[in-house]
Amino acid sequence: MKRTWKSISFLFVVMLLMALMAACSNSSGGSSKVSVGIVLPTKDEPRWVQDEQRFKDALSDSEYTTEILFSQGSSAKEKENVETLLNKGIEVLIITPHDGAAAASAVEAAKKEGVTVISYDRLITNTDAVDYYVTFDSVAVGAAQGQYLIDNAQGKDVPLYLYAGAASDNNAFLFFEGAWSVLQPKIADGTFKIANSVEAEKLKDKVELTRDEMSKILGQVTTNWDANDAKNKAQTHLTAAGADLKGDVAVLAPNDGTARSIADVFGSDGDITSYLVTGQDAEKASIQYVIDGKQSMTVFKDVRTLVKDAMGIAVEILDGKTPDTTGSYDNGNKEVKAKQTDVIVVDEENVKKELIDSEYYEASEFTGL
Ligand code: BGC
Repeated sequence: MKRTWKSISFLFVVMLLMALMAACSNSSGGSSKVSVGIVLPTKDEPRWVQDEQRFKDALSDSEYTTEILFSQGSSAKEKENVETLLNKGIEVLIITPHDGAAAASAVEAAKKEGVTVISYDRLITNTDAVDYYVTFDSVAVGAAQGQYLIDNAQGKDVPLYLYAGAASDNNAFLFFEGAWSVLQPKIADGTFKIANSVEAEKLKDKVELTRDEMSKILGQVTTNWDANDAKNKAQTHLTAAGADLKGDVAVLAPNDGTARSIADVFGSDGDITSYLVTGQDAEKASIQYVIDGKQSMTVFKDVRTLVKDAMGIAVEILDGKTPDTTGSYDNGNKEVKAKQTDVIVVDEENVKKELIDSEYYEASEFTGL
């Protein structure tokens, strides 16, 4: 009898605890109202985890409730995330699409519910369901990468390896456009020779490329924003390259994640005497690579400013005001009002000043500074 009582009371306590846990999880998310929904593309790249952290820092004392969801590189998951947030009653959606065109249907669903849509860092294309675009100057990012190679390469006929981002990301085109605008004249005058793209070689005399022409080059040199793809491509290219494409070389790598894996491949090829390699995002691992001389530069995009601008627009909307913008971007369907932020080139020379003195990172996070 005693034993039965013991088991019954134990069961009772367990049930009570479960009920309590369910009640708690409801009040801390579940059905409670969210004013601003934020959807980011993937947790697998430090760049977007950075953004998540900066959003959290900026929102810690906000009167508005927000929720951040990740799409993990899937447009289907992204749509599901938007629907989850719509069910929580969001009034503003801040979204970085995994695929700029595929995201149209997700934001169209949001628009139908009267939600204001802010495209964050990457533009959602071919839909009129985007109200604002908050971005860095992506053409300037590419131009800075190209210019760094020009300023630091020595001599003539320097083999130039080109890599690009994912073709599903409008930014990949903007970065490439910027890089091409400065590199093309230097290819034409014989400073560089293209090492790994027949399509780029065919177009080397064209100052400005159409989107279709860029697509052809991207088709050959895309990394898909994936460090492994980048590594495999770099290995294939170096295996195919003859002695005239080795020695001292220059590499246009589109971002830090791909730059590090490309740098590792180039660094371990005995016939590469030296390599210059670009990047962007100022990811911690790449800052260490820059300090160690394994990555030549990165483009620092101060995510704190982007977060501030996006939340600034969101709060104005919630307060019934009209946000200020500084320009616009054509997304193939409309001119989207935009707010744009400048970028900073970082290399061994100024890494401490730009990233430590500005309190973006702490010195203790690195060695050899
Ligand atoms: C962003 C970059 C990022 C890349 C890969 C681009 O749209 O602007 O900062 O490195 O996507 O995630």
